[in-house]
Amino acid sequence: RLVYVLNGPNLNLLGKRQPHIYGHETLADVEAECRKVADELRLDIQFHQSNREYEIIDWVHEAREVAGGIAINPAAFTHTSVAILDALNTFEGPVIEIHISNVHKREAFRHHSFVSTRADGVIAGFGTQGYTLALRRLARLIDEKTS
Ligand code: DQA
Repeated sequence: RLVYVLNGPNLNLLGKRQPHIYGHETLADVEAECRKVADELRLDIQFHQSNREYEIIDWVHEAREVAGGIAINPAAFTHTSVAILDALNTFEGPVIEIHISNVHKREAFRHHSFVSTRADGVIAGFGTQGYTLALRRLARLIDEKTS
């Protein structure tokens, strides 16, 4: 019951970056909250952030070997990256896409997501709470798959 939680570019600045859009919590706060909920759900998590597309792709490849699910906030790569989509399409378990903000309320270029064509579910506009909601959904989907 291992889940990868992957974060794309600029999310290292969470808490400092446009707090009126993304809130005041840092990515470390989000990770701590995820670990708390993961314990409750009896999930192990690998939590990563990178500003580099290839690192996210490499983590998806790693997840193929060891993980039952992926929660991913691809950040700006959501709207640009066929490569991350292709990587996720090689992963057999459930994938939940997370956006802290409601991307549909924002600029038109944020309305299209390459990743959504693969994701089993999409969470947007729930703030950083979206991460723990994604973990709850992944735990359920993993249980359903193995029961
Ligand atoms: C984001 C939304 C994206 O459009 C943006 O590029 C991000 C963060 C979100 O979490 O709301 O960096 O994925």
